[in-house]
Amino acid sequence: MNLSNISNATIDPEKLLREDLSDFPPYSMGHTPLADLDRYIKLDLNENAFGPSPKALAALAEMRHYHHYVGQDELRADIARYVGVDVSHIVVSNGADEIIDLTQRVFLNRGDAIVDCPPSFEMYGFFARLNGAKIVSVPRRDDFSVDVGAIEKAIRDWRLEIKDSNLQSPISNLKLLFLANPSNPDGSMLSPADVERLLALPVVVVLDEAYAEFAGESYATRVPTQSNLIVLRTFSKWAGLASLRVGYCIAPQGVAAKILQCKAPENVNAAGIVAARAALEDLDYLMGNVRRIIAERERLSGALAQLGFLQPLPSRANFLLCRVVGRDARALRDALERRGILIRAFGSPRLREYVRIAVGTPEENATLVSALREMINDK
Ligand SMILES: Cc1ncc(COP(=O)(O)O)c(C=O)c1O
Repeated sequence: MNLSNISNATIDPEKLLREDLSDFPPYSMGHTPLADLDRYIKLDLNENAFGPSPKALAALAEMRHYHHYVGQDELRADIARYVGVDVSHIVVSNGADEIIDLTQRVFLNRGDAIVDCPPSFEMYGFFARLNGAKIVSVPRRDDFSVDVGAIEKAIRDWRLEIKDSNLQSPISNLKLLFLANPSNPDGSMLSPADVERLLALPVVVVLDEAYAEFAGESYATRVPTQSNLIVLRTFSKWAGLASLRVGYCIAPQGVAAKILQCKAPENVNAAGIVAARAALEDLDYLMGNVRRIIAERERLSGALAQLGFLQPLPSRANFLLCRVVGRDARALRDALERRGILIRAFGSPRLREYVRIAVGTPEENATLVSALREMINDK
């Protein structure tokens, strides 16, 4: 073929971009640059205030193989032992974020749908849009509890609609239901009865247990006997390894095998593998920190409630969603930022009156509470 007459001068690459991404909403939070991390008390991203375990830090310092590609099977086996399932159910990922994407990619054809229950973790919708999927939105109730009846109805209506329009088989279209348990941003848990009702639906239930270690409850060991359940977990929260990006799922064997087949081979890097394996050998230390965070959460919740302008919701995670009364939530966030404390405020109308505050160390929480006390008379 003679290519000499073909010039690329007229090609505008922007015109070749996917049209369905033209109004794609980016992830809404900016992250703090590394150089600024020591300047702030960071309570905005539900991180672990106590950091990684000493064993993880020591293992990273000793690591000498960054010039090699490293296999993931030892980490998978360690996770399988930690969770209590066979290794064939485990896939590791670049944070839980990536496993949300991979789960969608192996199930969703363009036009298939997921159920999302906002306010929820925004990456479910982010990846659904990126994967060309539809989002069936079933909002939580005013108290942030999941409206299981409304989910059942939405799935029933979807099936009827598809049947009426004579499209494909109903089951092949609305495929995945995403729910975090505990939930982000509010920290609430599904009741066991609600979980059973959801598992009885003709969809795959993706239960995101990013904060399970704080709640002390998990459905992970149910996966081998529950064909429509996938559980997502991470080392970001309980193990304090957020920036090393190690997540995983516990999935039915056939689903896990498909994800393993379709994912990039080195999706978790060697530092993440080394640190996560060392964390699993330092459970006493890390679970001690989890208990401290839970105790701090309860103490902080009481102190915030006493201020008079914050109403913290009960939480089973490492953060507190607080209703801001009589003042603007985003102005409160900005005022704290000026004092070197980062918390989360939200753009969505449903959460406009709320801020989310991660539980810090006792010292950080004390600094936060005294900053807020000084602001009692501000508006
Ligand atoms: C509910 C939920 N799922 C998943 C994640 C992502 O975790 P990771 O850091 O492992 O990507 C988060 C992070 O905040 C989260 O809140």
